Amino acid sequence: MKIKYLYVVLFCLALSLSPVRAQTLIPIPDTLSGPVIDLTLQHGSREFFSGTQTATLGYNGAYLGPTLILQRGQVVKLNVHNLLGDTTTTHWHGLHVAPNNDGGPHTIIMDGETWSPSFTVMDQAAMYWYHPHLHGKTLKQVVKGAAGLILVRDAEEQALNLPRNYGVDDIPLIFQFQTFDNQRQIVLNDEMDNTVLVNGTVNGMVSVPAQVVRLRLLNASSHRVFRFGFAGNEAFNQIGGDGGLLDAPVQLTRLTLGPGERAEILVDFSGKEGQTLFFKTFGNELPQGFPGGPAMMGMQLGPLDNTSFQVLQINVTTQTANPVTTMPAALINNTVWSQTGAGTRSFGLTAQPMMSTTNFFINGLKFDMETVNFSTGLDKTEVWTITNQTMMAHPFHVHGNSFFILQKNGAAPPANERGRKDVVLVPPMNGSVKIVMKFEDFADPDMPYMYHCHILSHEDNGMMGQFTVTAAASGTRNPGAGKLIISPNPVGDMLFFEAPEEPDGNMTILLFDDLGRAVTEKQVWTNGHSGMIETGSLPLGIYAVQVKSGVKIFRGTFLKL
Ligand code: C2O
Ligand code: CU
Ligand code: CU
Repeated sequence: MKIKYLYVVLFCLALSLSPVRAQTLIPIPDTLSGPVIDLTLQHGSREFFSGTQTATLGYNGAYLGPTLILQRGQVVKLNVHNLLGDTTTTHWHGLHVAPNNDGGPHTIIMDGETWSPSFTVMDQAAMYWYHPHLHGKTLKQVVKGAAGLILVRDAEEQALNLPRNYGVDDIPLIFQFQTFDNQRQIVLNDEMDNTVLVNGTVNGMVSVPAQVVRLRLLNASSHRVFRFGFAGNEAFNQIGGDGGLLDAPVQLTRLTLGPGERAEILVDFSGKEGQTLFFKTFGNELPQGFPGGPAMMGMQLGPLDNTSFQVLQINVTTQTANPVTTMPAALINNTVWSQTGAGTRSFGLTAQPMMSTTNFFINGLKFDMETVNFSTGLDKTEVWTITNQTMMAHPFHVHGNSFFILQKNGAAPPANERGRKDVVLVPPMNGSVKIVMKFEDFADPDMPYMYHCHILSHEDNGMMGQFTVTAAASGTRNPGAGKLIISPNPVGDMLFFEAPEEPDGNMTILLFDDLGRAVTEKQVWTNGHSGMIETGSLPLGIYAVQVKSGVKIFRGTFLKL
């Protein structure tokens, strides 16, 4: 009833207020949650423009995919069914998982097959996303619509007075620059992007209640950078980035998001019931060399470049019951890893030849599936310096681990980029970025993690590298809360474990084989400090165990005979 009423109001508003273009209500993606999630990659068609069907790809539907809602600490199993008639992979962008669960280019899902990774969700509350990542086919599959959101929730975020009523006062927004041809079909060449889609909608419109509303923004474009802001320059507060909340809200009137980047903002619509606001992108304010901004030498200007235009109409409607009406003063404490004793590494973003506008590499090397570019150690901290020796900005992304930005062009990062990140825009023409990251929890001498430019044509053309994390030969792993007591050891069909101290809550268990690979999910029974798992089906060998309980991690090893 209420919903119907809302639609009538919106419809009238749309009729009376819409300026030149007819606006369409954007859909809010359905949600999936729980211990087992099924995703099917499939073909579809969508009426982006009335009267024309456009061929698309999607997860569980015609275009884009459901939003996965995960709880930090839970174990999730994802069954990804591939009905594309082509090979693919599915990558959990931003999630801290073992390389074999990450869905990078090495975990190929053959046509008609199902890939079923299983892992414990270890990430902080934030918005992540998933998309195909098959080398050479990423652009083709993502641009056609294969992408979806992941919302991780945790107790720390839950304790804050923030809007989190999905689709009501907490609204996911997937922004994509796209190219449609005369037949209104999606073109894979992103140089001439001529349309912006929001949640798969042209000329999108959303309704929000007259209170503090959280907008979760993803730039899922293949190529272009957004510079978001309101038509009237209304201020908003950024509260979070790629991999977690900020220390405190940061007030902004503009927000730049490169491909792959996410941001959470709070906008106070209190007292604005009945009003219409216009969310825009200001490409004309982007610096030289940022895709979507002013013309770059040797590159054609797309129809939407270097200009500002409306990307979303926002209609303010009635307040909900129990609205959030205040901005939080503080959020979480981000602790940047200490750089003492950290290793260093440098990456050059390079063009071949020097002035090329299409052939980009990292350290002059084209990605090779068979070459691991370097290897680092478990629990190591490293400072990476990424220098951009090209004419254009590149969004640099690392798999498996989030990082903190230490410097951008030699200066401290802006306040809204001081939370956990997994993509950073590296400014052009000798611009540089320094990041720090720590390689925790997962080691695998064979299966690599990726680092790459998130401009999908660059990535597909080889602007990507890979690295492995290997377990230290002995001794000091990440200091856990204590050592697990495991019995019997060697184990047979059953393993019993006891936590050395009070667990924080439910205990979950992860097993790694001697290659550091997470072993498929095991049923675990726990009772107070102790628990047991069935080990009869485990192959013989040495295993590492991690028992996680809230923020505590207990570790141990055992021999399976
Ligand atoms: Cu969003 Cu390696 O990817
Ligand atoms: Cu990723
Ligand atoms: Cu690039």
